[in-house]
Amino acid sequence: MRNTWYFSLFSVAFATILFTCANEQMGPTDPEPPSGTSRLPANAQIITGTAQKGWDYLREGNFIGGGVPWEVYSAFPGNLSNENLLNRSGDNAKLPPGFNVFTMPSGVKVAGGITCFGCHSAKVNGQFVAGLGNSVMDFTQDNSQLLNLVDFGIRGRYGESSPEWKAYEAYGRGAKASAPYTILPFVGINPAFMLEQASVAHRQANLNWNGGQTVFSIPKEVIGSDVPPLWNVKKKRALYYNGMGRGDFTKLLMQVTVVAVEDTSTARSINNNFKDVMAWLQTLQAPKYPGTINAALAQQGKTLFQENCESCHGKYDGDNYYPNLLVELEKVGTDPVYARYFVENPAFSNWYNQSWYGQSSPKSQAIPSLGYVAPPLDGIWASAPYLHNGSVPTLDDLMNSVDRPAFWRRSLSDKDYDFDKLGWKYSRESTAKDKQTYNTELKGYGNQGHRFGDKFSAEQRKAVLEYLKGL
Ligand code: HEC
Ligand code: HEC
Repeated sequence: MRNTWYFSLFSVAFATILFTCANEQMGPTDPEPPSGTSRLPANAQIITGTAQKGWDYLREGNFIGGGVPWEVYSAFPGNLSNENLLNRSGDNAKLPPGFNVFTMPSGVKVAGGITCFGCHSAKVNGQFVAGLGNSVMDFTQDNSQLLNLVDFGIRGRYGESSPEWKAYEAYGRGAKASAPYTILPFVGINPAFMLEQASVAHRQANLNWNGGQTVFSIPKEVIGSDVPPLWNVKKKRALYYNGMGRGDFTKLLMQVTVVAVEDTSTARSINNNFKDVMAWLQTLQAPKYPGTINAALAQQGKTLFQENCESCHGKYDGDNYYPNLLVELEKVGTDPVYARYFVENPAFSNWYNQSWYGQSSPKSQAIPSLGYVAPPLDGIWASAPYLHNGSVPTLDDLMNSVDRPAFWRRSLSDKDYDFDKLGWKYSRESTAKDKQTYNTELKGYGNQGHRFGDKFSAEQRKAVLEYLKGL
């Protein structure tokens, strides 16, 4: 399921539950956070939605806000898929997970993407998992030229005063404005925050398009990250690797809609549906490990995990305790560039906090810090590669920092799952030979740090791996 950004479509160019999250329930009985860590503040989410509606909205809803006229989009077989991975009906059944087809208020039917499931669904070992981060996407191309051709094609076919052009215009201009800021050095990493930053830089605080001018200057540096699994959201007090997503989650969840959104009244109506998305997220479970687990070995691993890992990552049996810790850069030791980026370039978070997202109820905020959240490890077997930048291909490598590969290449086939090391099979290379090779020598993509497993012997590591399979 290799995706080439939403621009696969540019072949066109050539022609009621009231639910309070458990995260609120931790109280004064919490253990003291270990040194170098701090507990994220409690952040109650009131969810008055219906899980089924949220699932349907993400699979078939109109939150992208515009798109390519369906008759044009669907004329190109390369834009379609016969897998129907999201089990959808009607025209949506013909699309890959990264697109939804929906009807605009004008009556024009469009295909819009990239949707949540473009980045947040994937296959592992042949099994499709909604909510798993897609780690095979290709953002290495500059699509600006292609987008210009799409504009040209749609304008030429329908004319600028047509409802078809209107249905496409805001979407096309948003995509074009961000395209130059989302180009990454190799396949498998994701520029979601760069897309977000470039999009909001073209908008006023009330979300109106700023006539093509930017309201703050967009940093030149482009950095990518891994895509986190969505089944952990229900445990979290703050979103994103650096914990900067605070306050109301429904506003944070809808960030991709800023690319094409009309104004605050459309944003408000989209936001109302995200209460249902929050309800769906409460029901989303991590996928079960498909292999066998040696119970005796896992029990040995559990003891080691409790001694060395639990203080940051929590407990997974019975009480299912998650401590919600933000860990300082010095303590975790992983690549600091991503966390520093948002602190050193505060224009994005300042914009966010002054905007409709930060100022209108329910309020959300962007509060970057110099640290990373120790994430829940539910379903961790499935979500390789590891760390915020996806620099470590397997859990075995994660627990043995001295032997992590500097250049590693994988087939990008979801069938190449490594049941021994838990993660993607890869070959160790001596250089960054092609775009399928992860290059840890580039700025922001280092694989250092998180040395908490280094003290294990090979046998102990095997035991902890066995335990991690069952989380
Ligand atoms: C272009 C790819 C892309 C799209 C589209 C996208 N996301 Fe994400 N999403 C990401 C990446 C990458 C991150 C990690 C960013 C970070 O944590 O710093 C992320 C983070 C998140 C998180 C935070 C998870 C956590 O554990 O902190 C949530 C929740 C989320 N996305 C939900 C959504 C929803 C819902 C949609 C659709 C409305 C969506 N995303 C669309 C790529 C994407
Ligand atoms: C001091 C706190 C701390 C301890 C102790 C700790 N971790 Fe972590 N762990 C973190 C942080 C913070 C991250 C995120 C780092 C990043 O993304 O750069 C992380 C990331 C991870 C990840 C990657 C998660 C993902 O989705 O990519 C795994 C797996 C993991 N830890 C397992 C372990 C295991 C196993 C142990 C014990 C041997 C352990 N950790 C001990 C703080 C800790």
